[in-house]
Parts: sequence; structure tokens; C-alpha cells
Amino acid sequence: MMQQKDGKVIIRLAQPQDADNIVKLQLDSIKTLSAKDYSPSQLQALLDSKSCPRPWDETILVAEIDRQIAGFASLLKGLNVIGAVFVHPNFVRRGIGTKLLKSVEQKAIRNKIKILWVCSSLNAHGFYLANGYKTIQKVNIRHDFLVPVPCIQMKKSLADSICKEQKIELLYKLFTGFVVIILLICIFF
Ligand SMILES: CC(C)(COP(=O)(O)OP(=O)(O)OC[C@H]1O[C@@H](n2cnc3c(N)ncnc32)[C@H](O)[C@@H]1OP(=O)(O)O)[C@@H](O)C(=O)NCCC(=O)NCCS
Repeated sequence: MMQQKDGKVIIRLAQPQDADNIVKLQLDSIKTLSAKDYSPSQLQALLDSKSCPRPWDETILVAEIDRQIAGFASLLKGLNVIGAVFVHPNFVRRGIGTKLLKSVEQKAIRNKIKILWVCSSLNAHGFYLANGYKTIQKVNIRHDFLVPVPCIQMKKSLADSICKEQKIELLYKLFTGFVVIILLICIFF
């Protein structure tokens, strides 16, 4: 993947034809960004678990720069769990991960999810902390019953954002009602 520094970041829903690029980005990202926090066997277990296309039961958003996929994130359908946030190594520390995470959170807020959970890889802990997630506990996950891979369970409350969203919705409805009443008064009097 070529490195491009100046393009505009567009967040969009993933399409079926993105599947291969998403798998490749995920593997490149793990190899480069997770290597320092995991042993070679843990890293291999992680890579093996991510070598197939992502499951169908996720809503996947991709970040695109100049028509290249620079990252993606997912929310498990019908659940309050983040499935993934991955940014290509060429594009890290430019706010793309945060943009993707915020878009997933917005989707969760629209689904009235009050608490969002994530199982963070060790290398992503600082990223989630910076985005308001709280550490719950360290857990081991076993991909296909191979080597246990440590990760950190984290969560974030979205309740305040839901309240804010509901207030904005109510204000919008009141404003629209007010405009309609004024228009009716102008028409009839
Ligand atoms: C974690 C990841 C998604 C972050 O993406 P990113 O686009 O670089 O993140 P951002 O630029 O939005 O970072 C926002 C803030 O998070 C924090 N942060 C990001 N990466 C960090 C890291 N590796 N270590 C500590 N803090 C980090 C910083 O405070 C950063 O702000 P700053 O750059 O102004 O200091 C990316 O490093 C990645 O894909 N890692 C490998 C895949 C992975 O482990 N994903 C998580 C699976 S659960």
C-alpha cells in the first residue's frame, strides 16, 4: 500500500468487494503493530484467526483515503460489542482509528446501546483509554483452541450521548412544530 499523507478521510459502509483488502490490512496491521506486545506463537495465533474474511454478523465501516482502505472498524450486529478497529501501519497516529471508533459509537447510539464493550489487544490499550474506555480486566482468548492470547476487556458508557441525542431530537421536533404553527397562522390570518 502506498503512503499518502494529504487525502481526505471518508468513512463508509464496507461492500462485499472490500473483503480481501480488509483481510490483508488486518494481517499487515497485526504483523507490524502488535508484534512488540505478543510472543511469536501468540502473534501467529492472532494472524491465523484473522486470515479469513470477517464474519457476516458485523456492521463494518471502512476509512478510505484517495480510494485506498486505510482502516476499518466493526460493531457486532444486535450486540453492544466492538468487533474490531484496525488501521494500516502506514496511516497510524493521524486520527483515523478515532474517526472509525466515533462512527461505530454513533451507530451504537442510534441503536440505543448504553454500554459498549471491546476486547482490546494489548497494543491498542492506550488508544481505547485515550477515547474514554475504562479497563475492566485482562482476559485470555483462545482462537480455535490454540495458544491463549491475552487481551484487555474494556467498556464505555454511551448513556450521556444517548440523552444528548434524545434532547436534540426533541428540540428539533419542537422547532419543526413551531415553524408549522407559524406558517399556518401566516396562511390563515
Ligand atoms: C489501535 C489503532 C487502531 C489506533 O489507530 P490510530 O489511527 O493510530 O489512532 P489515533 O491516531 O486515532 O490515536 C488517537 C490517540 O490514541 C492514543 N494511541 C493511539 N495509538 C496508540 C498506541 N499504540 N499506544 C498508546 N496510545 C495510542 C494516542 O493518545 C492517540 O493520540 P495522539 O496520536 O495525539 O497521541 C492502530 O494502532 C491499530 O490498528 N493497531 C493494530 C490493530 C489493533 O490492535 N486493533 C485493536 C483491536 S481491538
